[in-house]
Amino acid sequence: MPATQITDEELKSLTSAILRRYGIDFTCYEPTSLKRRVDRCISVLKLETVHNLWVKLLKDQLFVHRFMDEVSVGLTAMFRDPIMWRALKTDILNKLATKSEISIWHAGCSSGEEVYTMGVVLQESGFQSKSKAIATDISDAAIAEAQQGKYYHLKLAEYGKNYRGYNPLGSFEKYYQRDGADGVMNSQLVDHVDFRHHNLISEPPPGKFDIIFCRNVMIYFDNKAKINLLEQFHQHLNDGGYLIIGFYDALVPLIDKSKYYFINLDAKIFQKI
Ligand SMILES: C[S@@+](CC[C@H](N)C(=O)[O-])C[C@H]1O[C@@H](n2cnc3c(N)ncnc32)[C@H](O)[C@@H]1O
Repeated sequence: MPATQITDEELKSLTSAILRRYGIDFTCYEPTSLKRRVDRCISVLKLETVHNLWVKLLKDQLFVHRFMDEVSVGLTAMFRDPIMWRALKTDILNKLATKSEISIWHAGCSSGEEVYTMGVVLQESGFQSKSKAIATDISDAAIAEAQQGKYYHLKLAEYGKNYRGYNPLGSFEKYYQRDGADGVMNSQLVDHVDFRHHNLISEPPPGKFDIIFCRNVMIYFDNKAKINLLEQFHQHLNDGGYLIIGFYDALVPLIDKSKYYFINLDAKIFQKI
């Protein structure tokens, strides 16, 4: 456990300063878990004090991305939120069954866990051969990791437990090969995805899609950026296409009901009108 313990006041000032300076919004994070992650960040980056973190964040423009990577550690996992993956299968894939091709975009894919989860869901639903997926992130380190499809075996064991929440009768272990202390996702899953660098704020979406995942990414953005992105996603979804956001993205009030059907609010699935 890291020694630094950022106070509520320090956290509030830090997140407000980051929002003012970079337009990156950490203020809607749940404070207890954010404090834990900021403490962890100070320890991992050997900054020792909140003050040092503060100075680095305000002076070094590039550092904010490193900070984002560190703070978001642990925010991705395979088969996280099984309720969403089950809903995706019943509410979306069944409806797309008649399409000859399904195009998918994972926007802000991090180290790939969400992408491989979808790969497994597509394989088990028999849709892999007629689907194509693009996965993008602003972090080159994250993209490189995602492309490798290699995860520590204890993490994979944890993901196996999540998977059983989605499919109690299936076997998650068949989707990767053990390689020393790691497991490597099967090549069918890795090769299925086109991984690319992409900045959601400054670049247009890389095509038109039937499903766009943008989960736990927009949490970093201010409302103007969120509304702009929701509009861009709308324009880049095929007719009747689906948008899936994260459980804590605090976006629902910003979603225009004249543009999206609220298909499944618990699972945060929306459909283009
Ligand atoms: C917490 S992860 C989410 C991973 C995955 N979507 C999930 O929910 O499991 C957030 C990711 O968003 C990426 N990100 C942040 N700002 C971005 C931007 N402007 N453009 C693209 N990706 C961005 C970060 O690099 C990070 O990998």
